[in-house]
Amino acid sequence: MSHTTKIVNTIAEMSSITSIRNHEHKVGFVPTMGFLHEGHLSLVKAAKENCQIVIVSIYINPSQFGKDEDLDSYPRNFEKDVRLLTALKVDYIFFPSNEEMYPNGYKTWIEVDELSSILCGKSRPIHFKGVATIVAKLINIVNPNFMYMGAKDFQQIAILKKMIKDLNFQTEIIPCPIVREEDGLAMSSRNVYLSKEERLRALSLSKSILFAKKMFLNMETDPEKIIIKISEIIQQSNGKIDYVEIINPDTLQKETSLTNESRIVLAVKFGKTRLIDNDKIGL
Ligand code: PAJ
Repeated sequence: MSHTTKIVNTIAEMSSITSIRNHEHKVGFVPTMGFLHEGHLSLVKAAKENCQIVIVSIYINPSQFGKDEDLDSYPRNFEKDVRLLTALKVDYIFFPSNEEMYPNGYKTWIEVDELSSILCGKSRPIHFKGVATIVAKLINIVNPNFMYMGAKDFQQIAILKKMIKDLNFQTEIIPCPIVREEDGLAMSSRNVYLSKEERLRALSLSKSILFAKKMFLNMETDPEKIIIKISEIIQQSNGKIDYVEIINPDTLQKETSLTNESRIVLAVKFGKTRLIDNDKIGL
């Protein structure tokens, strides 16, 4: 039997479909903002392997973009996204309008304290409030058993895990590894903003992280020394550092002593484009 991928635009229809969630039918959900690349598709493939029903949402959530950010220019290609998801035999694409998600008079917001105001939250103060709110809404609409999310957005996963725990949502986040281009650049929809020259300079992110991992392998135990070296490598490529830190993977607080799981996290601007990357310091 041929498989069809159905596009769903309304909350009412989406909710009625996933109400069949039960022990035999595990629902896997991949929330995205579209302009899909292999990073997104790796999440879809993981969901397909483990769930009977797979749903991908494509929604550029206005409330997670700051005033001076790239909401208007955020790249989109819905037809290509549909082709890619159809080829992977996704069951449903949830593609709602802004009016559907934030009707006139919308008033309710979710904030995860502390975790949302550090790291990326410092330069993007409203970002994680928008992310937590839209993901909470999507969980209620889609009712998934599992939500597949990329470690590329490490802080996003930590914040959403906390929200799920604190608000007793009946879903579980399955974190999936970062997918990179062959030369090491972490895939991102925003990479299309980079000029050829900026794209080359941006390789300093993954290179500096690899260097840091080697330092740790060679018994360097002082986080500050490793951070200084990462920063040097990035500055040599003319990247404008927002932050470079080594943090505890659960609390997101700065590590004073390192373990294999300590996380190198960084955000750097090349021209107008802000990129993030991370990896654990151990092998
Ligand atoms: P978006 O940036 O489209 O990312 C959707 C999902 O793809 C996220 O879980 C993200 O971590 C994952 N992803 C992106 N690049 C990846 C890569 N190189 N390797 C592995 N996974 C990758 O994150 C968002 O959208 C939004 O904030 C959203 C959660 C949809 C809420 O609006």
